[in-house]
Amino acid sequence: MCGIVGVVGRESAAPRILEALRRLEYRGYDSAGIATLVNGYIDRRRAEGKLSNLAAVLEATPLPGTTGIGHTRWATHGAPTERNAHPHGTLRVSVVHNGIIENHAELRAELEAKGQAFETDTDTETFARLVDQNLAEGMAPEQAAAAALKRAHGAYALAMVFAGHPRTLICARQGAPLAVGYGEGEMFVGSDALALAPLTRRIAYLEEGDWAVVDDAGARFFDLQDRPVQREIRLTAVSGAATGKGNYRHFMEKELHEHPVVLGDTLTQYLDPMTRSVTLPPLPFDPAAVPRLTISACGSAFLAGLVGRYWIEQLARIPVDADVASEFRYREPPLPEGGAALLVSQSGETADTMAALRLLKERRQKVLAVVNVPESSMAREADGAVLTVAGPEIGVASTKAFTAQLAVLACLAIGFGRARGTISAEDEARLTATLLEVPGHAAMVLERDAEIRAMAAEVAKARDVLFLGRGTLFPIAMEGALKLKEISYIHAEGYAAGEMKHGPIALIDSAVPVISLCPSGPMFEKTASNLQEAAARGGRIMAFTDDLGAARLKAFAERVVVLPRVGDFSAPILHAIPVQLLAYHVAVLKGTDVDQPRNLAKSVTVE
Ligand code: M6R
Repeated sequence: MCGIVGVVGRESAAPRILEALRRLEYRGYDSAGIATLVNGYIDRRRAEGKLSNLAAVLEATPLPGTTGIGHTRWATHGAPTERNAHPHGTLRVSVVHNGIIENHAELRAELEAKGQAFETDTDTETFARLVDQNLAEGMAPEQAAAAALKRAHGAYALAMVFAGHPRTLICARQGAPLAVGYGEGEMFVGSDALALAPLTRRIAYLEEGDWAVVDDAGARFFDLQDRPVQREIRLTAVSGAATGKGNYRHFMEKELHEHPVVLGDTLTQYLDPMTRSVTLPPLPFDPAAVPRLTISACGSAFLAGLVGRYWIEQLARIPVDADVASEFRYREPPLPEGGAALLVSQSGETADTMAALRLLKERRQKVLAVVNVPESSMAREADGAVLTVAGPEIGVASTKAFTAQLAVLACLAIGFGRARGTISAEDEARLTATLLEVPGHAAMVLERDAEIRAMAAEVAKARDVLFLGRGTLFPIAMEGALKLKEISYIHAEGYAAGEMKHGPIALIDSAVPVISLCPSGPMFEKTASNLQEAAARGGRIMAFTDDLGAARLKAFAERVVVLPRVGDFSAPILHAIPVQLLAYHVAVLKGTDVDQPRNLAKSVTVE
């Protein structure tokens, strides 16, 4: 999603803004631009496509000035062209925006009637022209911005600069994240701490409805009613050094290979290897007293939540509802008195999940966020947070963050089970021991890389792919399909193996790979039968299994990748890795943009 950077600096702003925008590339974008104050006038450069295009424009026609704003745009209103690229504005004001101004059509009509001549198809330009109109009517920048913010409905993070005010930047937040960075005699604004990491680690976050004036004197914050407010300056844990690709070709490849470390770091937060027990951080609800649990999340995080539902229902016997966050709000679910909710998110900024959070709080549910970014809106607004320790995830496709979410959900399920007395201390010790082996097993799974690459060569030729699993491996089949779709652009479906005969079996022919997650265990025989049904219809069976399963599946499967024998409980964590690796290799073979696949954004901050 769109990325925002602003600088009130002491050295040339454009190169620093460009560098900070590079650190926001992971969010996904399709055009970019920068505006600076040059001798009190606003000047700008913009380009369609990648930041390298903007860099080339800047090289050909450099942009001087020490104060400026920059933007990577993920198109919502208006095609991803240079004309629609931010910053937008007039001779008086220049604006960058992340989000959607929902009443843009009404504002546009009003402003056109006043003589404003629009140049783009964007909703953002209406905001810029609203500020411009206020300035033209005699308001100072602060008044003009504050008055415009009261007229704009929707979600936004905004930053703007003004002609004749070369050391001032105004920014605002309503539904999309924004941080102010404090440097040595310099000030910064960014969509997240990662963008600002090389510039400063001293960060203050705007809260919902806040706007701020950033200048040489620091930052003055105001709430929606324009009352001055204080926002705490924190030292962010995000380091400027943590985001290189190392020797890997893609961030996704690097992140896949970080699985053992990330799983180890996450699990050791919550598991004690000596006592073989789970220690959870303070929870905002008592699991022993919770009548019902709601899980809500988006994309891969939702699929992690689905696995969590199986675990929590099985181990803690709490009834669990799981919904994609974009549907949850509109379903109008009855929520019980004393109920609790789990939200799952890597970024902690996903707009749909944030909307679910607010609804849940309104309905007096106690909300626990499973989140990777400790300073995110979700971590701050939920009643409690349990952190995944995955570090920055830059590839748009979630990999290590997903398995870290599973690791946390597994620990929560054990902890809830103990609190409710539905599992014994011996069960806890056994399950904890299983989880403690996961990082080592993950390393063994990664050793199967060459075989998975060979499987990818076959899958890359397909137009449609089916992923099948049962129980906790059903959501992992959906994760395999989601990952393949998003980075290789091959159509894929994840199905419950037993459901295939109720429809998708019609798709099966010799062109459709059927990829099954089928380790030995209680579900094995039934899944193997479903695969034989597919094989009997010419389907090309490819399986991830263990040594026991392989003995049976090799009779009819075209390819079998043998994973360590791990048992039911940790199987979903370990089967997520090969399906992610498979999608990665298919995408590389197809030559797609693995880390920034088309149309996608890492952190989806619009609904
Ligand atoms: O930051 P979040 O975990 O809230 O993001 C949720 C989804 O947008 C995300 O998981 C998305 O589906 C990934 N691209 C999947 O790889």
